[in-house]
Amino acid sequence: MSPTAFSTTYQLGHRLVNRLGYGAMQLAGPGVFGPPKDRGAALAVLREALVSGVNHIDTSDFYGPHITNQIIREALHPYPDNLTIVTKISARRGADGAWIPAMSRAELIQAVHDNLRNLGLEMLDVVNLRSMFDVHGPAEGSIEEPLTVLAELQQQGLVRHIGLSNVTPTQVAQGRTICNIVCVQNQYNLAHREDDALIDDLARQGIAYVPFFPLGGFTPLQSSELSNVAQQLGATPMQVALAWLWQRSPNILLIPGTSSVAHLRENLASVRLTLTSEPLAQLESIAE
Ligand SMILES: NC(=O)c1ccc[n+]([C@@H]2O[C@H](COP(=O)([O-])OP(=O)(O)OC[C@H]3O[C@@H](n4cnc5c(N)ncnc54)[C@H](OP(=O)(O)O)[C@@H]3O)[C@@H](O)[C@H]2O)c1
Repeated sequence: MSPTAFSTTYQLGHRLVNRLGYGAMQLAGPGVFGPPKDRGAALAVLREALVSGVNHIDTSDFYGPHITNQIIREALHPYPDNLTIVTKISARRGADGAWIPAMSRAELIQAVHDNLRNLGLEMLDVVNLRSMFDVHGPAEGSIEEPLTVLAELQQQGLVRHIGLSNVTPTQVAQGRTICNIVCVQNQYNLAHREDDALIDDLARQGIAYVPFFPLGGFTPLQSSELSNVAQQLGATPMQVALAWLWQRSPNILLIPGTSSVAHLRENLASVRLTLTSEPLAQLESIAE
């Protein structure tokens, strides 16, 4: 199917956003800890993203910590009216950069205030509750307590919309009984397709699905099939990986991360790619 058959936008909270957005995690230092080597380059990536039509940025105050949000503020504040910034809470960083669960009431409230202050906002557009029962992937457990805290913060006017991250389908169903859920952000890409059924279900419910690690994250996707398809299409493997997600479902919003303007441009150009049935079949074997 031609990618032009898909809308280039999707409803996220109260706004239609371009389906090709930007993930800001790569703007912090190595290991998402401390400042970047080149702050000017980080500012340039963000400004280029907006100039190129990106109006959906994914971030968190635990990137750095605090640093990525401060860079976003420096680069883009005052924000254009059509920009949606999505953040996530429920983790904190150890002195050694460790990712530590922070799902208590006090920690969640603190995290929302940290995000507001560092982003320079009075209300956060979308806040994802990132489940931390297992830092590396979705694990069952009730999210009622932390999500109720986030819903209270929404009622107080500090948070406009709520999403979930690193969650199971059971947790999505539980979450939807507590408050309106506008997006789900889990790991998903050409190689990791555990959420296939969940994506289709969310599409039927009109809920955005935002795959993190769309390019493979800390270990970018590598496979001979991917390279072959890319070569046949005169594209790069990363562009093919993004085009595959773009065509996978209309409720998928892309947030590829990069610290480089050249990679950003390459990634944004991926929507011009069409994956017909033949390359799509070739790419099937990459699923683990
Ligand atoms: N909810 C969660 O738990 C969670 C977890 C992880 C991430 N996230 C979000 O998801 C976003 C995306 O994930 P991610 O940034 O970790 O991983 P990603 O987008 O899958 O991949 C980023 C990596 O790919 C490289 N890259 C990007 N474009 C490239 C290109 N055109 N050619 C070659 N290499 C390229 C980047 O390096 P360069 O900097 O050199 O381009 C970086 O090493 C993050 O920014 C964050 O907002 C959420």
